Amino acid sequence: MRGLVRETSVEPRQLVLPLFVAEGLTEPRPIGSMPGVVQHTLDTLRAAATEAAEAGLGGVMLFGIPEHKDATGSGALADDGILNVAVRAVSAEVGDDCLVMTDVCLDEFTDHGHCGVLTPDGTVDNDATLQLYAEMAVQHAEAGAHVVAPSGMMDGQVGAIRSALDASGHTDIAILAYAVKYASAFYGPFREAVSSSLQGDRKTYQQDPANVREALRELALDEAEGADIVMVKPALAYLDVIRAVREATRLPVAAYNVSGEYSMVEAAAAQGWIDRDTAAAEVLTSIRRAGADLILTYWALQQTRRTPELRS
Ligand code: PBG
Repeated sequence: MRGLVRETSVEPRQLVLPLFVAEGLTEPRPIGSMPGVVQHTLDTLRAAATEAAEAGLGGVMLFGIPEHKDATGSGALADDGILNVAVRAVSAEVGDDCLVMTDVCLDEFTDHGHCGVLTPDGTVDNDATLQLYAEMAVQHAEAGAHVVAPSGMMDGQVGAIRSALDASGHTDIAILAYAVKYASAFYGPFREAVSSSLQGDRKTYQQDPANVREALRELALDEAEGADIVMVKPALAYLDVIRAVREATRLPVAAYNVSGEYSMVEAAAAQGWIDRDTAAAEVLTSIRRAGADLILTYWALQQTRRTPELRS
């Protein structure tokens, strides 16, 4: 009876698995603050992407960690840079069985940990960064990505990327826009995941957790610039924002169940204080109930395997 009248479901096809790949690794490296998540080698990344495709997940989101970081994040634009190499490897492996998505951002590649290049006074240079995002997106498309996901919250990033993709013949590559992204403490474990030590904070370009009207303005800008899917991030502390975005757009809405949301459940479960799989399923259901069509979650594979309701 409960199944018959259930209003919301979470299906594998609606889940996207974020995957980290680090340059120069010979063994996968566990991420201490995210039990069960690793920095992959190219080989284990390929295997993880195959598992994701076989499990029927909607896609994988790739994050690259270069061996050497510098002020301009030059590893992001090198043809043999880790993310470009990883996209080629994964798309050769999964073909069109699973969408290959890429994080278009510089924070994994810069030594200061900011999402863009800096002006001499140390603030992020919005427009200079747009050029680099546009070049990154074209490289990812050429390497075989189906979807590019600009996550740096620079003004104009979706428009700059759309123009560059179209001008280079990649009219069929979709943009998953991190439209609404808050300056959040819940990204904490992600810093370890991408071996980043951020200098300062991101409050000059990420949103104030107190604001929802601002989220709707960010949404409208990204829609006008050509976003194909819009994302709200984080998810759990922003369910009302997901609902407001859902009501304000006809585009598909994604939500990012971020590292800190994953780690707090995992940490409590490790203590025996909470039942991990049930709690994770409840979290994902709440994000879908709030109005997200798709969810980026580190639990994508475990949930698909362990929770009967999640099997398609
Ligand atoms: C930026 C990016 C971040 C995350 C995804 N893309 C970090 C940030 O914006 O500070 C965080 C994801 C997570 O915490 O799981 N490249």
